[in-house]
Amino acid sequence: MFPEERPRRLRQNSSLRSLVRETELQISHLIYPYFVMPGSGIKTEIEAMPGCYRFSIDTLVEDARETFDMGIPAVILFGLPEKKDERGSEAWSPKGVVQKTIAELKRTVPELLVITDVCMCEYTSHGHCGLLKKNKIDNDSTVEMLAKIALSHARAGADLVAPSDMMDGRIGAIREELDENSFEHIAIMSYAVKYSSSFYGPFREAADCAPGFGDRSSYQMDPANKREALKEASLDMQEGADILMVKPAMAYLDIIHILNQEFYLPIAAYQVSGEYSMIKAAAQKGWIDEKRVMAESLISIKRAGADIILTYFAKEYARLKG
Ligand code: PBG
Repeated sequence: MFPEERPRRLRQNSSLRSLVRETELQISHLIYPYFVMPGSGIKTEIEAMPGCYRFSIDTLVEDARETFDMGIPAVILFGLPEKKDERGSEAWSPKGVVQKTIAELKRTVPELLVITDVCMCEYTSHGHCGLLKKNKIDNDSTVEMLAKIALSHARAGADLVAPSDMMDGRIGAIREELDENSFEHIAIMSYAVKYSSSFYGPFREAADCAPGFGDRSSYQMDPANKREALKEASLDMQEGADILMVKPAMAYLDIIHILNQEFYLPIAAYQVSGEYSMIKAAAQKGWIDEKRVMAESLISIKRAGADIILTYFAKEYARLKG
């Protein structure tokens, strides 16, 4: 009790504070997301995500080398296809923009881990994450497609695949497809607990994948639910997920915490586009200190229990730390 107990004793100077600091976020725990499109020489800033770009393969590869040289070990790829159709067929084409990017990255920066987002929404004309039957998402035929997409990424050289669709049974189906084709060494980072969130707004502009009708609440989770997160995570673990992801991050720190407590798999958290853009926008107005808010948001995600963080701030954080 006070006056014997004085917690401020350990906060007197920065050496003491660093001595007792409980959480450290390393650059090696970050994954940087990339948007890639057909063409060459392209690097166009995404309006709603200042500091983030749509790249063509050549400019992306150059940028990715820089990313790796900053100490960031991994990137995740999102593709903007040449053509969209009902069945999202460019998603699994061996000549698709993501497949070509993977091959080029593995050729030029082989140590960089290449993770791919496995989903259909960027490729379908209706913008939903699956195949439609009578205007409803058909789970089981979608799962077959997702397995096909994951296999095409593995064939192109991806190190990990990350299904983000939230269909039932997709982790098991992808694991089986990969194993049957001798890709048993390719890990699955499951978007296990992905909420139907309005924080994805800027991403949908960036990847041009807003649903043409309705929303994603029949497959993504209700933000009000926590026990359901445990159910989703345990199903994915049983089906063979190697890493469990929670998405978004900052509004779901309790979910990150509980997954860290309940599961022995590495936990990833995705600081999504809306989280990034809100910080950027407020900083542009001079209302907050961007670097400090960035660092604070990332350390809070780590402290909650994330081992890995996917963030559009990865390079800026690396610059700040490095
Ligand atoms: C694809 C996908 C989305 C995001 C990652 N993968 C969009 C969505 O589900 O609508 C969002 C990422 C972000 O907002 O940064 N399904």
